[in-house]
Amino acid sequence: MRLNLRADVKMYPIEILLDEHKLVERVIKLVEKVRSKLKKKKEIPATSFWKLVDFLRSYADVIHHSKEEDILFMQMREHEAELSEKVWDQIGVLIDEHIQGLDLANEMHKAIRDYQRGSVSARKRILRSVTSYVDIMKAHFKSEEDEVFPAMVKVLSKAEKDKMAADFKRFDKIVGGTAAHRSYEKIVAELEKELS
Ligand SMILES: [Fe+2]
Ligand SMILES: [Fe+2]
Repeated sequence: MRLNLRADVKMYPIEILLDEHKLVERVIKLVEKVRSKLKKKKEIPATSFWKLVDFLRSYADVIHHSKEEDILFMQMREHEAELSEKVWDQIGVLIDEHIQGLDLANEMHKAIRDYQRGSVSARKRILRSVTSYVDIMKAHFKSEEDEVFPAMVKVLSKAEKDKMAADFKRFDKIVGGTAAHRSYEKIVAELEKELS
């Protein structure tokens, strides 16, 4: 009999999302760096800014948040009564925060454009949007990792976990598969050098 090693991992298959968190957290640190540079009135290379915003929209929102909302949270409907009211409230907040995160990344995009076109007030808008993004997403990850995900893992059956792992992989294929993940990892490594 072959052992399914991944099934023995405590957070399986949510560890796939936790791995993605690690990459997004590296970018949140970069957004914090941008915030501190802006506060010190230092210039940020425009190309780095565009790459950062693109990561927040394409990787954090499309690749990561879609997996949570369309696969994990959706599956929780089968376990409505098993999750506490507090966890359901937290799920509602998490979905709102995904929307806010995307809105803030879009606002960063618009404000950077306006800044490049000469708007003086745009700098303040960039600072406001990066500050809110960092504050919201740090609390968001903490809520998912410390409370919501562990509560969800407890109520999932082995069959549901296996199906979810397969659904995560299927979704990844649609959005570019391993090549897309590698390319985003490369972009993050480049940004870490550019913004150091
Ligand atoms: Fe999330
Ligand atoms: Fe997440």
